[in-house]
Amino acid sequence: MIKHFININDFSCDELNGIISDAIELKKQHNSGVINKTLENKTLAMIFDKSSTRTRVSFEAGMTQLGGHALFLSDKDIQLGRGEPIADSAIVISSMVDAIMMRVSSHEDINIFADNSTVPVINALSNESHPCQLLADIMTYNESRGPISGASVAWIGDGNNMCNTYIQASKVFDFTLKIAAPKGYEPDPMFNKDYSDNVQICETIEQACYEADLVVTDVWASMGQENEQNTRTSAFKGYQVDSKLMSCAKDDAVFMHCLPAHRGEEVSSDVIDGEQSLVWKEAENRLHAQKSLLLFLLS
Ligand code: CP
Ligand code: NVA
Repeated sequence: MIKHFININDFSCDELNGIISDAIELKKQHNSGVINKTLENKTLAMIFDKSSTRTRVSFEAGMTQLGGHALFLSDKDIQLGRGEPIADSAIVISSMVDAIMMRVSSHEDINIFADNSTVPVINALSNESHPCQLLADIMTYNESRGPISGASVAWIGDGNNMCNTYIQASKVFDFTLKIAAPKGYEPDPMFNKDYSDNVQICETIEQACYEADLVVTDVWASMGQENEQNTRTSAFKGYQVDSKLMSCAKDDAVFMHCLPAHRGEEVSSDVIDGEQSLVWKEAENRLHAQKSLLLFLLS
């Protein structure tokens, strides 16, 4: 049976913790100059119909570091972008490469692709979820604060793809997730229904952050929502993570953001550039977490 990574809860807690502890080891090895060519002669196809800095660079550099090759396929260049059926594209591309990473607008397209692929498919962000980011976030939390199980996590802002993935992760890793989102921007109830033991929807941002171990936010307008920027800027007024809000959390609380960030909107400069912020480690850990994921999927 082919393993795909489409949602964070596709794997068990033990499997995810194994990937994360291997990622921490791979990071140490890489930083001390150890060469690891386990994926020699392997090719990763990377299909993008949206922009990316971290995801593209981390997967491409990660494949190089493991002795393999990554192939960047923009929808502007491949026939998928001209209407070739997803299933046909999946059959053909998977007959030539060893794994496929996809960042596409429609989550359902990733499911169709995976159903027709003969090699592992990785969701590198869809409208619904961003599981690779969560691997890096949990790894980053582990490195600085220890296991996330039992912790209190505050999600401030849009009930978007990142929020959905935190909801899914809350059950697998068993942490409490307190969400504060403006009316009309709460997470899709479909993502809440099975998670009531772990997820609380809060009336205020202060309630969500109260005694939190980790405070997380994301942009107010995601990719593809650029024309809603003005409406969203009004709707999200009062939903900024600033130092006053951080003071509701525990003294040793940490701050994360998947990036790219908009300083002065969802987060103030003093928080994202301050001592509690882990955003640069979080971004770097995309590299190590995904190398570990690739080794897990291709082993
Ligand atoms: N966090 C994240 O996925 O960043 P990119 O959009 O730059 O890949
Ligand atoms: N919610 C953001 C995440 C970017 C990594 C988006 O989808 O644009």
